Amino acid sequence: MSKIVLESKDLCKTYILDKYSNNVLKNVNFILKEGEFVSIMGPSGSGKSTLLNTLSGMDNASFGRIIFDGEEMSNMNPKQMSNLRLNKMGFVFQQMYMLKKLCILDNIVLPGYQAAKMKKSEVNERARKLMHNLGIEDIAQNEITEVSGGQLQRACICRALINSPKVLFADEPTGALNSKASAEVMNVLRKANSEGMTILMVTHSEKVAASSERVIFLVDGNIKGELNLGSQTDENDSSIRERKLKNWLDEMGW
Ligand SMILES: Nc1ncnc2c1ncn2[C@@H]1O[C@H](COP(=O)(O)OP(=O)(O)O)[C@@H](O)[C@H]1O
Ligand SMILES: [Mg+2]
Repeated sequence: MSKIVLESKDLCKTYILDKYSNNVLKNVNFILKEGEFVSIMGPSGSGKSTLLNTLSGMDNASFGRIIFDGEEMSNMNPKQMSNLRLNKMGFVFQQMYMLKKLCILDNIVLPGYQAAKMKKSEVNERARKLMHNLGIEDIAQNEITEVSGGQLQRACICRALINSPKVLFADEPTGALNSKASAEVMNVLRKANSEGMTILMVTHSEKVAASSERVIFLVDGNIKGELNLGSQTDENDSSIRERKLKNWLDEMGW
C-alpha cells in the first residue's frame, strides 16, 4: 500500500458575490497516493479548477481539512505555506503567471535558485534538459511576449518541474497545445510520474486523461464517479485505455 500524499476531508468552497453564495465544492473527500497519476474531468463550471486550487493551498477552503504529506495545511502560516509550495509542489495553471521582466530561461530557473536545493549550475543544466525534452530549447533567451501560447505553456511546465516536486498540480496542461506539443508534454509528465512524481491534473481531453491511472469525475462540486485505468505499461495500450475511458464518460453523462 503506498502512502497518502494528499487528502481532503469534507472539503467545501463557497464564493460569495453580492450576498449570493455559490457553493462550488460540496464535501469533497479525496485521497491521492504517492506516485499516483490522477485526472479530474467534468463539465465546465463543475469546480475542477477550484478543487485543484484549494487542494494545492493556492486558495483557502471554506470548510473541511486538507492534509499534505502528513501535515494539516490549514494550520500553516504563510511562510510555511510558501516553503511547502516551493519545495514540494509544482504548478501549471491556466493563467500562467510568468514574470514579464525575465526571459524564458530565467523564469524557469528562478524557483530552482529560490529553493537552493541544487547549485545554480545544476539548476541551469536541469532547465536546459527540460526545455530540450519539451522542444523549446531555442526560446531560452526570449521575452515572455515573444513566444507563442503553446511555447509559453511548455515553459510553465519546465518551471513547475525544476525543483522535482513531490506533487505536480496541472490545470489543462495541454490546453493551448497542438497534438504534437501535447504528446511531448504527456511524454514528459509520464516519465516524471514513472520516476516517482505524483500528478493531479485537470483535463477535458480523453486522450490526455487516458495517460493517467485514475480519473475522477466532478459534477456540481461533488465527485460523481471514479475510474481506475491502472498504470500504462506500454505505448500500445493507449487506444484501449482511451476507449475504456470514453465508455465510462458516456455512462457519467459526459
Ligand atoms: N474567484 C472566484 N470568485 C467567484 N466565483 C468563482 C471564482 N472562481 C470560480 N468561481 C465559480 O465557481 C464555479 C466553478 O468554477 P471552476 O472551478 O473554474 O470550474 P471548472 O474549472 O470546472 O470549469 C463557477 O460557477 C465559477 O463561476
Ligand atoms: Mg477550470
